[in-house]
Amino acid sequence: MFKVGLTGGIGSGKTTVAGMFAELGVAIIDADVTAHALVAKGQPALLSIQHTFGDSILQTDGTLDRAKLGNIIFADGRQKKRLEAILHPLIYANLQQQIDALKVSYCIVVIPLLFETNMRHFVDRVVVVDCPVECQIGRVMARDQHRPEKIQAIIASQVSRVERCAKADDLIDNSILPQKSLAEQVKTLHNLYFRLSMRHCR
Ligand SMILES: Nc1ncnc2c1ncn2[C@@H]1O[C@H](COP(=O)(O)OP(=O)(O)OP(=O)(O)O)[C@@H](O)[C@H]1O
Ligand SMILES: [Mg+2]
Repeated sequence: MFKVGLTGGIGSGKTTVAGMFAELGVAIIDADVTAHALVAKGQPALLSIQHTFGDSILQTDGTLDRAKLGNIIFADGRQKKRLEAILHPLIYANLQQQIDALKVSYCIVVIPLLFETNMRHFVDRVVVVDCPVECQIGRVMARDQHRPEKIQAIIASQVSRVERCAKADDLIDNSILPQKSLAEQVKTLHNLYFRLSMRHCR
């Protein structure tokens, strides 16, 4: 199996681009979706979180109080590390299980924090969805109604645009006026990944 990691900063367009690969029939596995599923009510990861952060991290219906947990880890780097120590190994192990169950020559694994978690080795190739920071902020503000300062703080907590692009094998330009349309860029890369996956399985 040839694994392509798809990453990019907040609001850069990862989910949009992954949807375009999916339309071409490519298998998509998503770390955000996986992370959500792992902390569903009754899951072992949620019990670990409860054990670490206390019962008040749960809502009355027993589900995770995401806003509360978000505020705790945003305010305290040590707490963020404790949460990551619980979740990251479980997420990557679960991603690998999903990959192992696939019967395709290549898949796209959407991993927003691929570089931040130092997991470049998890995939065979990396595609970065890129756009200017102002564009990220504008799109996330429109989508989530967050204040710009909050989005800027999240961007500051991620690797820089320069570092991310330097580490990419392939770049997808998702700025407002890209050189080539998103669909064209995705199609070109799909052809490349298919060819590489054929070589990979030989
Ligand atoms: N080329 C584009 N033109 C216009 N809007 C776009 C474009 N690409 C993405 N968007 C919009 O910008 C927002 C962010 O895109 P998307 O959700 O795909 O980013 P993301 O990288 O998955 O974000 P996150 O890091 O929060 O998961 C969405 O509302 C999406 O519809
Ligand atoms: Mg997304």
